[in-house]
Amino acid sequence: MLHIIWDLMTIEFVIVTGIALIFGTWVGFYAAKPRSLKGKHVMITGGSSGIGKCLAIECAKNGAHVSLVARNPALLEEARAEILKFASTAEQKVSCFPTDVSGPYEQVERTVLQAEEELGPLFLLANCAGYAKAARFEDTAVDEMKKLMAVNYLGAAQFSHAVISGMKGRREGGIVFVSSQGGLCGIYGFAAYAASKFALRGLAEALAMELKPYNLTVTVSFPPDTDTPGFAEENKEKPEETRLISESAGLFSPETVAKVLLDHSLKGKFVSTVGLEGFLQSTVCAGMSPVTSFVDLLIQVFSMGLVRLVSAFYLFKFDRIVVKCMENRDKKKRSL
Ligand SMILES: NC(=O)c1ccc[n+]([C@@H]2O[C@H](COP(=O)([O-])OP(=O)(O)OC[C@H]3O[C@@H](n4cnc5c(N)ncnc54)[C@H](OP(=O)(O)O)[C@@H]3O)[C@@H](O)[C@H]2O)c1
Ligand SMILES: *[C@@H]1O[C@H](CO)[C@@H](O)[C@H](O)[C@H]1NC(C)=O
Repeated sequence: MLHIIWDLMTIEFVIVTGIALIFGTWVGFYAAKPRSLKGKHVMITGGSSGIGKCLAIECAKNGAHVSLVARNPALLEEARAEILKFASTAEQKVSCFPTDVSGPYEQVERTVLQAEEELGPLFLLANCAGYAKAARFEDTAVDEMKKLMAVNYLGAAQFSHAVISGMKGRREGGIVFVSSQGGLCGIYGFAAYAASKFALRGLAEALAMELKPYNLTVTVSFPPDTDTPGFAEENKEKPEETRLISESAGLFSPETVAKVLLDHSLKGKFVSTVGLEGFLQSTVCAGMSPVTSFVDLLIQVFSMGLVRLVSAFYLFKFDRIVVKCMENRDKKKRSL
């Protein structure tokens, strides 16, 4: 029975989306072209690995000068050499600025100043530095909660703060935040992590409204599980529940996530997702987020109620996973 309702919902959603997409393509002919990165300076925190490194490669392909920020200088140098190979012209520069995004603000300011001196005024800041820690809330040390907030949220807030006055003055460019699907929906084992990623969305929404009159765009990416060194690290210890729930959205490549994110950012879209589940999730979570795509607005208006119902099925499934894992644990305990 549930499956039939589920199938009907999916079919209806596909039809509604289809109509909106056809209409959207028609509207798309009149939409603004994506901005060019040729000769522009892009700064990427977390640019030495995973999604950040892939984003740096995309920017290099698009003709940008790239500054990379991360802690480990050796990894930064390695990434720099790799990214340079993708540069589309011989004049393009890629430079490294070893900095802890959660460190003192004076250091962050110094990094931005140095990078702008070397590579020119910033056009795009991409806040990709971050990490995940999956554990039940009571098993998460308070120090870990503070660190998650300091790196994932404050790290992005500090860098954005340091670049904004310059960007506003120049009246072009934008800021990118990398949140997570866990930044749209809190799931088992991600209490502390989700809080830090939800925080980014609040920051981004408010910033978008402040920066819009200055011709600046804000984009937030909500990636699903992505095949990166960071993801491998996160998987080393992860509650069974968290793994089962989050893997239902599938595993994506960092190249795909980065490519889509850059495209969305250059088109000025506020939300960036990949995959059908990501799209459904961002639709149902649209809330009061800025309207930057007429097509997305149409899809939201016509499918919001439906997608909420679909989300209820997902949540039902997730709750069942949690209960099942608890029962299995109890069984194991009894048999010991
Ligand atoms: N992979 C996923 O499944 C997934 C899903 C959703 C969201 N995300 C988000 O996407 C972003 C990138 O993740 P990823 O999987 O690509 O991770 P990754 O492969 O571990 O790369 C993380 C990057 O951030 C840097 N970094 C970490 N902590 C830092 C700090 N305190 N200061 C400066 N740089 C720091 C790392 O370099 P150093 O260690 O040398 O500093 C590295 O360059 C993160 O914000 C993550 O939360 C990832
Ligand atoms: C807005 O930015 C774009 C490039 O990002 C630029 O071409 C355009 O001239 C800017 N508009 C204003 C009004 O400054």
